[in-house]
Amino acid sequence: MDKFIIKGPVKLKGQVIISGSKNAALPILFASLLIKEPIEIKNIPKLKDIDIAIKILIKLGVNIKKKKTLRIDSSSLLRYNPPSYLIKLIRASIWILGPLLTRLGKVNIAFPGGCSIGNRPIDLHINSLQILGAKINIKKNHIQGYIKKKFQGKIIRMKNVSVGATITIILAATLACSITIIENAAKEPEIKDLANFLNKMGANIQGVGTNKIIIKGVKKLKGGIYTIISDRIETGTFLVAAAICKSKILCKNTNPNDLNIVLQKLKKTGAEIKTGKNWCSINMHGQRPKSVNITTGPYPKFPTDMQSQFALLNLVSNGISIIKENIFENRFMYVPELIRMGANVILKNNMLKCKGVKSLSSAEVMATDLRSSVTLVLAGCIASGITIINNISHIDRGYENIENKLSNLGAHIQRIKY
Ligand code: EPZ
Repeated sequence: MDKFIIKGPVKLKGQVIISGSKNAALPILFASLLIKEPIEIKNIPKLKDIDIAIKILIKLGVNIKKKKTLRIDSSSLLRYNPPSYLIKLIRASIWILGPLLTRLGKVNIAFPGGCSIGNRPIDLHINSLQILGAKINIKKNHIQGYIKKKFQGKIIRMKNVSVGATITIILAATLACSITIIENAAKEPEIKDLANFLNKMGANIQGVGTNKIIIKGVKKLKGGIYTIISDRIETGTFLVAAAICKSKILCKNTNPNDLNIVLQKLKKTGAEIKTGKNWCSINMHGQRPKSVNITTGPYPKFPTDMQSQFALLNLVSNGISIIKENIFENRFMYVPELIRMGANVILKNNMLKCKGVKSLSSAEVMATDLRSSVTLVLAGCIASGITIINNISHIDRGYENIENKLSNLGAHIQRIKY
């Protein structure tokens, strides 16, 4: 149970280079199972979740060479039942189903893991694969599936928008017979990155980024090289860091177009936002942020993965604001910890009423999930005194080199390993 010791308050300012996107890299890693020729993937972030996904692929018989880039050769794929202890560690494991059924005609995996921000059901994934022709049984928390021949293209109307299930369908439909249409599809930039990767390798996926995706099954995919997009949530997190420190930060190697609504909300707090082709910057000119109401929703609405960071911003802003979480049912676990640091907030169902305070005070707090962890780290940076954050293992799942990046911006942060 590693912990962080953070001394505040500091003014985080300067430049930060954004890493590759966790939520784009994970689907692309599992999509590589569809390709029998060698591929090379660039800009893969060094994260725990990525390491786990690589371990799962290796257990399946995939050849992987990790250097500056990732070289993957799935031609020798042979196992359909990877070890449960790995599968249970990440939510992304669910994306094994489509490729293994496509390649081997069968699959047997434990239920996936993931942050405890809600029940994380998988019904939309399972139902979609069944519509495309797979037989799936759930036995003792295991997903056993098989398919006689190939997936058969169909029209799938999603009852609600799901990033993960949209990806599951794309992975199953890419090498299926005929055409699959996804209606009410998710539109996240990470899904676009997956489609761009697969299309570069010979797939035929159109309409990604809209709510109707059309996948024309192809016979096979070829090898090639691909560069993952930058992490929009890491970018947003560092922009909020500058906002709560009333300072300025330049985020390099990132695409501001993936963050439009977050940038709009930051402008509403009084921030001066500048953007370029592969960078964006924020300057608060020493001003305390104004409060801003947030309601999360599927892209292009406000991203749930930025909800806790904006709650912190509101809790040190000079006003009253409401935060509504519409995606996950348990994504406020950081609230009791911020209250211990002096936050003035009332939680009612999926709504947070924030009343900004001038400053927070240090405390010993507990991290509970990935985005809550980074929010507590930022809170520690602006709180006066020494903040101790326990159980920080979550943060390494989604933020590459977080303490180095924060130290370069002026943070006094030390990791105590246990
Ligand atoms: C992905 O999770 C991301 N994870 C999440 O990022 C992100 O918050 C979420 O999409 C945004 O919607 C990865 O990409 C690895 P969903 P996912 O399917 O696919 C319900 C982070 O911090 N649902 O879009 O699990 C579900 O319970 C993580 O980086 C079903 O009911 O999200 C939720 O309420 C956290 N049945 C809603 O849909 C299903 O079969 C949206 O979930 C699947 C989902």
